[in-house]
Amino acid sequence: MPSFARLLTLTLFAITANAATTGIVPPSQRGIPDAFDIQIIDVQTDTTTIEATVPLVDQKSGANDDSPPNHPVPETVVTAVDGKVLDVGISARTENRMAGSPNLAKRTVPGYTQVFAGTGTRQTDRDGSIEGTAYLTYTVLNNATYDVDGCLNFCNRVNGCVFANLYYEFNNYLLDFVFSEKSNLKCAVYGDVHSAAEKTNRGGQQQIPPPAGLTYVQHSSGWSSKTLSDPAPPEGYELVFGPTGGANNAPGYMGFAFIDKYDVNACAALCNTRGADRNGGACQYFNIWRALVNGVPTTYTCSFYYLIADESTAVNYGQGDLKVTYSRGYKRKPLLLDGGFEGYTCPSASEDFCFATSYSAWVGTSPKGGSLDATIFHYAPYARVGHGVGLLGSASGVDSLPGTLSFTKALSTVAGKEYTVGFFHSSVYGGESAAKEAFVEVLWNGNVVKTIRPGYEPWTFYELRATARGGDRLAFRGGKAPAWSFIDDVNVFAL
Ligand SMILES: *[C@@H]1O[C@H](CO)[C@@H](O)[C@H](O)[C@H]1NC(C)=O
Repeated sequence: MPSFARLLTLTLFAITANAATTGIVPPSQRGIPDAFDIQIIDVQTDTTTIEATVPLVDQKSGANDDSPPNHPVPETVVTAVDGKVLDVGISARTENRMAGSPNLAKRTVPGYTQVFAGTGTRQTDRDGSIEGTAYLTYTVLNNATYDVDGCLNFCNRVNGCVFANLYYEFNNYLLDFVFSEKSNLKCAVYGDVHSAAEKTNRGGQQQIPPPAGLTYVQHSSGWSSKTLSDPAPPEGYELVFGPTGGANNAPGYMGFAFIDKYDVNACAALCNTRGADRNGGACQYFNIWRALVNGVPTTYTCSFYYLIADESTAVNYGQGDLKVTYSRGYKRKPLLLDGGFEGYTCPSASEDFCFATSYSAWVGTSPKGGSLDATIFHYAPYARVGHGVGLLGSASGVDSLPGTLSFTKALSTVAGKEYTVGFFHSSVYGGESAAKEAFVEVLWNGNVVKTIRPGYEPWTFYELRATARGGDRLAFRGGKAPAWSFIDDVNVFAL
């Protein structure tokens, strides 16, 4: 048994050897990082800006333009982003995305209820048609009868329709002389339910030269489907809560958009394509809700978060004239579980520091002759959040070879589909000069799809896109001790 003095000498020698060129205590010996740079700023939902933007948008419309009947339902349009109203709304869809349908269950005509009645058709009766949100399209029905069933059947055929407004429009040149139907009975359909208070289009235009009168509306009735079916979750997402009357007031907020109808697929497409937050990473959650102003549907909000929220923070019910309705939360489904290395724990719960070359989710390998070149640590000071973190570069600092950290499972990807891979990286451990040669390669099925040479850098988010071949493999290769690279909060999401 060596003497105490000898043990001490050995230990000292070990430290000296590791730090031979750098003087840095390596991670395996619980060294202290050059900087504790974890600055996760707690950005909460900016309810003030959202609420101040509501009165600035006008999303009300109806079948009151010159477009012919039966035009296809236009794509969902973004009307405001982060408090800025868009003059010309932009389509919420993006290149790689299939335009998902709202998937509302088909209803039979008996599945409707009357919301309001028309004025009648006496000579003096005057009425108004609806100008409201989420207008979809309209049709012209034969006016031999006041064809409620025909109108509700039309609503059944239009994706997303939950409400129909049936009315006569007189002295309309196109209806009287141009459109093939030669009828003045209009059926306008909507993706939201409206009330008699919204009968604001009362005609008044001179469309046919005098002695013809001005346009006017008669017998305008409103019908809504009895049940508003739940929308199917967007692809790559799952429902977290809702519908409730509370919008999220939650941390990890990234911003918001207003869209012109209640369209969960549009919110998802916006979340998928919203640029990552440097501090928080990719959009991982959205909250969709409808704003009622004095009881009238006014706009549809999508708010975006890099942290996953739930119903416990869905406590913004609106204030004053504004009421939150149909609030639902959806989170993005991760393809890679335990990208935060939190599944790795020390043998005893009382230990707060340990490391290993592998556990169930990740395995680290060193090249020939290397030692501990890719490891997993359980130690809060090294992790971005929580306790777990991956390390590239010899944990004991005995060599300067790069290691490889591989996710042990094949990802449940679909061949041909695009995915986004995100991760956080930090290379501050050994200080500025030690970090000069820091590098990390992202390997997708063994191929390098991204390389970073960041030098000295605090926790920073990176992302890339990769096309799947199905059952794909993800790994990180890098580190050149003392240029250590810590990797944390890795995610893979469908685009
Ligand atoms: C039916 O529509 C035609 C064309 O707009 C119109 O001339 C006629 O007066 C309408 N009939 C009724 C009963 O409203």
